[in-house]
Amino acid sequence: MPAPQNRMTDRPAPTTADGGFYAALKARHDDILAEYRRRTPRSAALFARASEAFPGGFTRDAIYRTPYTPFIVEALGTRLIDADGQRLTDFWFNATALPLGHAAPEVVAAATAQVARGSAYFGPTETELALADLLIGRLPCAERVRFTNSGSEAVMMAVRLARAATGRSLILKCEGSYHGSYDDVSWSIAPEAAVGSAPVADTAGLAGHAGRVGVVPFNDPETLERAFADRGGQIAALLIEPVANRMGLILPEPAFLTAARRLCDRHGAALIFDEVIAFRLGYRGAQGTLGVVPDLVTLGKVIAGGFPGGAVAGRADILDLSAPDRPDRVAHAGTYNGNPTTAAAGLATLTRLTPETFAAMNAMGATVRRRLSAATAGLPLTVTGAGSLFKLTAAAGPIRDYADAAVADKEWEALASLALLNRGFVLTTGLAGCVSAVTRKDEIDALVAAIAEVLTL
Ligand SMILES: Cc1ncc(COP(=O)(O)O)c(C=O)c1O
Repeated sequence: MPAPQNRMTDRPAPTTADGGFYAALKARHDDILAEYRRRTPRSAALFARASEAFPGGFTRDAIYRTPYTPFIVEALGTRLIDADGQRLTDFWFNATALPLGHAAPEVVAAATAQVARGSAYFGPTETELALADLLIGRLPCAERVRFTNSGSEAVMMAVRLARAATGRSLILKCEGSYHGSYDDVSWSIAPEAAVGSAPVADTAGLAGHAGRVGVVPFNDPETLERAFADRGGQIAALLIEPVANRMGLILPEPAFLTAARRLCDRHGAALIFDEVIAFRLGYRGAQGTLGVVPDLVTLGKVIAGGFPGGAVAGRADILDLSAPDRPDRVAHAGTYNGNPTTAAAGLATLTRLTPETFAAMNAMGATVRRRLSAATAGLPLTVTGAGSLFKLTAAAGPIRDYADAAVADKEWEALASLALLNRGFVLTTGLAGCVSAVTRKDEIDALVAAIAEVLTL
């Protein structure tokens, strides 16, 4: 009998046998929750207070978890201490932002030295210049840089620059890609089911996508080709996430990336790589690793050394549109853009991130993926990831695009993640993780053993 199909995508839906596998852990739901509550009474009390201050108890959606997320008191290296005194091993490092781990000595020293000299001035510093020079030296596309306060702001600025450079307004993005909280990229991030090219609002409050945003499936060069054939003259930019987080931290396939570069060139659109996470792939970022050079790159997380920050970098002729003395300039203010504390921390972080450090982190990431694949062989689970990043998805796989990822049993993933938290390991609720330079082999051994144990619950 053929496998049942998902109506929207023609992909095989999870089979009954898979459902049986997922049901076993779900049958333990109450026990896992009771254990979590038993371990975290002080976090529960703080969450009750937070629910009076923050809508739903949270001030950033990214850390949402049911019944609540452990409050953190301090962190060092790979270790987090929560409000109940639990020692947790971090395998997510503030959403991949801390490749040297928490409170890395050189970052602490650089940031505290800067704070002692003043944390922010109404004037430029040599530190922001040094960080910009470093990015220009490493990233193939980077001829100029503008600093921002977050990855979201970097994407917002990149989109504005691309629109100004082309005189067009349509931005193409991939279904299942997250690019931060800016309105024009808040479409088709995580629709209930994959629908391909129709923009689906990810949030209430958007003004509409018509003429502003188009969506294409990831890793589908033919559909991309058709999108450019239909609307090439309207497209200002194609925005690609070179490590697609919500799809399982997967890479774009070479055929997709080369088609993206070729089509942007042919139709005069800007190719933007969102490397807010993907920069983690290597010394020259994702573009250096994947061998395709975009026109613009957006950065955040790692380059800010654990502080709020981001950047847009790229071709001089595009970035120079934001030169303040141009009458037709692309405006870009910002009280904390390039602030010296972030710049000092970012510089200290990037200085430590030599090619050898990247190689060591990536080798560890490969080890985790290989060992998780072995531990989950024969089960309806798929291990994906790249570089220092990994994810365990509750779907039979393989996963190449959002349609493959969207059929995952997210309830199983969130419960497994909570069971891992009960065992002292922090991954996302979708079981995404990463290693950092300070992650040790015995911590990887312990994580794999804990996951194997959760699989037998
Ligand atoms: C690929 C990508 N782009 C943009 C952002 C937004 O960055 P920020 O959270 O710093 O605004 C993120 C955040 O996770 C991201 O993963």
